Amino acid sequence: MNAVDQKVVVISGGSSGIGAAAVERFARKKEFLPVIVDLNRPKDSSSHAGYFQTDVASEESVSASIAQVIEQFGRIDGLVNAAGSGGGGHAHQLELAEWQRIIDLNLTGTFLMSKHCLKAMMKRRHGSICNVSSVVGLQALTGATQYSASKAGVLGLTRTIAVDYALLGIRANAICPGYVDTEGVSHLNSPELQWLRDEIASFAPTRRIGRPDEIAAVIEFLISDDSSIVTGSTMTCDGGWTAGRHAGNILESDGEY
Ligand SMILES: NC(=O)c1ccc[n+]([C@@H]2O[C@H](COP(=O)([O-])OP(=O)(O)OC[C@H]3O[C@@H](n4cnc5c(N)ncnc54)[C@H](O)[C@@H]3O)[C@@H](O)[C@H]2O)c1
Repeated sequence: MNAVDQKVVVISGGSSGIGAAAVERFARKKEFLPVIVDLNRPKDSSSHAGYFQTDVASEESVSASIAQVIEQFGRIDGLVNAAGSGGGGHAHQLELAEWQRIIDLNLTGTFLMSKHCLKAMMKRRHGSICNVSSVVGLQALTGATQYSASKAGVLGLTRTIAVDYALLGIRANAICPGYVDTEGVSHLNSPELQWLRDEIASFAPTRRIGRPDEIAAVIEFLISDDSSIVTGSTMTCDGGWTAGRHAGNILESDGEY
């Protein structure tokens, strides 16, 4: 496959966690060229085709980086919006600045990256966007006020883009991971927070924490042409977290079935 046929996939937040796993997965397939857009430099420079230091919450920064991507690679076929952060606080105590910080990063960042990449996709009448939302965009998690609002907003943004750009050959989908073992949630690995980690893991009927590579597999599907009829969807990848409650039953025993 020559470079002209390779699909350029821009991955925000590609330096760590879910984004980095997506970069690694795309890099293993010769049809993709993964390009990282992140505030922080990736630790591993071998897997990506380019790194552009960017603050996704700043339009100036996003616009400059996407212009450089187009100058260097000539096209954008896919966009993965994985830059983001958690944030907690109960509404009556939450400072406006902290609310704004998470909305700016998770929601406005997804909007700005989409806005600037869409312009390149429209020129070629082709493209696919995968936005990383969260189960917390679908269901409340206690204290996750601004995070939940930002991730629910990402779902509305995704559906609107899907509807607006469908006839231009551009698809947009969102994924809602449950709890995934990444650098972003590594504070839960401390012995003092083990109880919380265990409790969150138990929300999923599978009773385990997701791996970044499991989420990357879903991202690749949604960016690739394998999902050519899928747009505007919200795909949970949460071990069943949002499917319902698991109350324990006979199938948990070690008996023969
Ligand atoms: N880990 C989980 O359990 C989980 C669950 C559901 C959803 N998510 C979502 O998945 C996405 C990735 O999370 P993760 O756990 O991999 O986090 P992570 O902290 O490991 O990675 C986030 C990346 O975003 C980058 N980033 C932060 N602020 C930025 C900015 N202003 N501009 C550009 N880049 C910036 C960081 O440098 C980092 O590389 C987030 O949107 C998160 O909300 C995570």
